[in-house]
Amino acid sequence: MQTSARELRAHAPQLSVGVLSADLLRIGEELAVLDDAGIRLAHVDVMDGVFCPQTTVGTPFVKALPDRFVKDVHLMVDEPLEKVHVYVDAGAGILTFHLEATRHPHRVLQSLAGTGVVRGVALTPGTPVAAVEPLLDELELLLLLAVNPGFGGQAFLPSTIRRVEQAKAIVAGSGIVIAVDGGVTESNVGDVASLGVDLIVTGSAVYGGAAPTETARAMLTAARDAGQNRPLTTSSADS
Ligand code: DX5
Ligand code: ZN
Repeated sequence: MQTSARELRAHAPQLSVGVLSADLLRIGEELAVLDDAGIRLAHVDVMDGVFCPQTTVGTPFVKALPDRFVKDVHLMVDEPLEKVHVYVDAGAGILTFHLEATRHPHRVLQSLAGTGVVRGVALTPGTPVAAVEPLLDELELLLLLAVNPGFGGQAFLPSTIRRVEQAKAIVAGSGIVIAVDGGVTESNVGDVASLGVDLIVTGSAVYGGAAPTETARAMLTAARDAGQNRPLTTSSADS
């Protein structure tokens, strides 16, 4: 399913659930967890074994995901310029690549203009948030990693809190969606939402527990409750 920055912000805060934390041999049943919990976004962590140590899935998996979900594709791959378009063709609704993975982030974004995909840039915890500033005219989503890329189940880095504040100041008025990925659990999802984050990614907290549907539902409720008085990240101007 396609979406837009405007729509994502209109329903903020939202949860996007990392489906590679699910039991992949039962993926159909596992996706019902998202339906039952009212979650529309399925986050897919694509790793190439070069940008980060593991290798996960690629376009066949993205294509196989049902179109009733917004396919939120997080590319952790080296040199994405020649690789992004196959993910658009596979049905990505959000397509995020890492600033650290390319010498030409602006060109990657330009090449995605007009495709209808929400264009995202991700930053690892070691990259200054200000590095995204030159890209703001070509960008709909900024994803801050709250862990180093490569593995689910890591602890949320506290430095993410000030990075979110920096990001909000940098994108103010642009309509850009702010997203956070990594280490978000039932116990801190409310805190993350209260920072004014529009889109929160979680993986192992949902699928790694005994009651995925209940956990997903509780996390969505906690995010929405905490987000009710959230500080606005952007003006009503939109892209
Ligand atoms: C990190 C990935 C995240 C992560 C989320 O490399 O981008 O999406 O797996 O998983 P949890 O929620 O377990 O940190
Ligand atoms: Zn991710």
